Amino acid sequence: MIKVSDFKFVIETNTTSYCFRKLNSGQLEHLYYGEKMDAFDGAFEALCPVNKYPAGNLCTYSKDFPDVALENMCLEYSGYGKGDVREPLVVIRNTDGSLTSDFIYHSYVINRGEHIESINGMPSALKPDEQLKIKLMDRQTNVELDLYYNIFEESDCITRFSKVVNHEDSPIEIVRLLSNQLDIFEGSFEFMNFTGAWAREMNVNTTPVFQGKLVNSSVAGVSSNRNNPFTILKKSDTNEFAGDCFGFNLIYSGNHYTCVSKDGFGKVRVVSGINPDCFSFKLNSNEAFFSPEAVMSYSGNGLNGLSKNMHTFVRKHIVRGKWAGKSRPVLLNSWEASYFKIDEKKLIDMAKTAKKLGIELLVVDDGWFGKRDNDKSSLGDWDTNLKKLPGGLKGICDKINGLGLDFGIWIEPEMVSVDSDLYRKHPDYAVCVPGKDHSEGRNQRFLDFTKKEVRDYIVDKICNVLSSANISYVKWDMNRIFTDFYSDSLDNQMEFSHRYILGLYDVIERITGAFPDILFEGCASGGNRFDLGILCYMPQIWASDNTDAWCRAAIQTGLSYGYPMSVVSSHISGCPNHQTLRNTLLETRFNVAFMANLGYEINVSDLSSEMMNEIKAQIKLYKENRDVLFDSDFIRMSYGDNYEWMLVSRDKSKAFVITLSGLSKANYPDCEVKLTGLCDDKLYHFYNIPAKYDIHHFGDLINIVSPVHIRQNSLVHNAVSKFVKMDGETEDIVAKGSVLNKCGVRTHKNFAGTGYDSDVRFYQDFGSRLYFIEEAKND
Ligand code: GLA
Repeated sequence: MIKVSDFKFVIETNTTSYCFRKLNSGQLEHLYYGEKMDAFDGAFEALCPVNKYPAGNLCTYSKDFPDVALENMCLEYSGYGKGDVREPLVVIRNTDGSLTSDFIYHSYVINRGEHIESINGMPSALKPDEQLKIKLMDRQTNVELDLYYNIFEESDCITRFSKVVNHEDSPIEIVRLLSNQLDIFEGSFEFMNFTGAWAREMNVNTTPVFQGKLVNSSVAGVSSNRNNPFTILKKSDTNEFAGDCFGFNLIYSGNHYTCVSKDGFGKVRVVSGINPDCFSFKLNSNEAFFSPEAVMSYSGNGLNGLSKNMHTFVRKHIVRGKWAGKSRPVLLNSWEASYFKIDEKKLIDMAKTAKKLGIELLVVDDGWFGKRDNDKSSLGDWDTNLKKLPGGLKGICDKINGLGLDFGIWIEPEMVSVDSDLYRKHPDYAVCVPGKDHSEGRNQRFLDFTKKEVRDYIVDKICNVLSSANISYVKWDMNRIFTDFYSDSLDNQMEFSHRYILGLYDVIERITGAFPDILFEGCASGGNRFDLGILCYMPQIWASDNTDAWCRAAIQTGLSYGYPMSVVSSHISGCPNHQTLRNTLLETRFNVAFMANLGYEINVSDLSSEMMNEIKAQIKLYKENRDVLFDSDFIRMSYGDNYEWMLVSRDKSKAFVITLSGLSKANYPDCEVKLTGLCDDKLYHFYNIPAKYDIHHFGDLINIVSPVHIRQNSLVHNAVSKFVKMDGETEDIVAKGSVLNKCGVRTHKNFAGTGYDSDVRFYQDFGSRLYFIEEAKND
């Protein structure tokens, strides 16, 4: 709800209030963002003390307003010049070359329904409840700055974006135009960002905010695995369950920038938007430029509260189309199963076994097109390799469909290999600086999506591929970052990165729009472009090329701060793991993937019958429960040395708990599962599905019980292991939600070197459990 009275502005969501006012001098002073209150009951009086004599050596705004010193005020936007030396939202090079802006209030409008204005050329959040647009005009030039606030009441999110319109007769240059600015009066804060590298995405960092600046940004051309655009500002004493915190994200897939700064008066400013580094944009007379949409949310209920807001926002306002809110097919992907070495026979064998396991979709990853036997060639040549797949895509697709599975493919439409027919014919389509050496990434180059003819070419080509067979899933990959970029279509090369992203959105929109039934999954060497921009077109993203369960737990934990697990896909792969060479139990691998969109990336044709049975049971269990992922709260109970996640259905009738530990400790039998979020008054059944463990896990210990000596890994040992299994423990407790919420459950004790039977928890390195909590009948 937006309330305005006498130049006082209040934005309310279900549990938050956001307030600012117009000063007599024309600027907008930010006053409050936090827990909901009735701001018109005195907040404007309480928060606006008289400020007659600006402190110290501050510059005053103007001689007409000697009491206004912008540097020591909380503001809704800040420009360059006029005394505020903190991070500006906007910097414009005026027609006379000067950089000072002086935007002051002109008017406001509240838009609803079809009158809500959206951003040209970029994705935006769906269905805001209302929109506040504030028009500002520069006091001395004919340049307009519009500030937009979109309200999403249920998810407690507010989005902001800005627009500059040039009403001058000649061009101006936008040096920076960010999307969001939040000034906070004072406090001791910490900044959280999510950083990493290939296969090590989304590490959680927490850094105290000091006088100076902390920056989370990307100039990689993509939102990047180096620094995800999602960030958090939290009070120093805020934890997962209590305390104040603010979350920030951008609906954008390119170079981004978030800066948190603290000034000499203790005021904290967060700005975010397109990275101003290597950016500027020429704006001709009567043209407008939009920033992307930024998202922010406040929670007074700790980080889990903030995540809940972000998850609701992503599910309701970002993900769209046929697959929004809908459970996804369990898939088998060919990549880790056979890399580039695919052929029709292999795929059909895999599909036959997959069908028996309950898998619903076979995805042919890289290697099906051109002469693609490794990563050195053929990107751009999107014609089926008939040596590998003699019947073309249609041939293999029909056969897979005939076996009862859906069929999907991998593509990388943004790229071209120098060794490709496309490059040989159209070197001008590839991004490079003419006459200079190009630095390659994975032996490939970007197609120049700033050019319409290149976009038209690739849209046409990919649409032909997708209509050539009954394709129901596409993995859209992107495997390099920007280096020496340049386009001969541009006068100003500083526009390249942003124009590329605009071109990319045009291409994605046209392709995904032409195939609304296809499930598109975003991917960029794993999580190198995991952002809200991509999620507006593709309802799920491959979070990481790292399928090691222990690493994946960390990556998915990092993602969970800003993104719901319903947009994450997670696969079970072979062991030793291909990225870490680590061995983990199949049980652990499943548990980590269980709370996301499940897939397998393993050579199913080589599975033992025991593994087949275990996987079959996993898939059955997953299918029975996968709907919950789309209507539940994901709660981090602990992470680091061990992980505990809960998924609680919104109606609180069902919950799941996953525990995962790192290295096991000797003589450490105690084990407690903490619980939260259940309905205090409901009665619940807490249980597990007892596992059966292979005796190989106990090694030589078998001789303690065996009447004859058995040599480890001998034929006898292997033969016995087929028939004798060690029973895992059984948990079976009925208790009131209030009890479970307060006490949790102390489960069976871990193996501690002193004896094992079915009352002991077998919990080796990277051990994991999945517990179920279901509403029980009161009888
Ligand atoms: C990237 C993806 C992988 C796989 C390969 C294929 O690395 O992240 O999942 O698709 O490309 O080349």
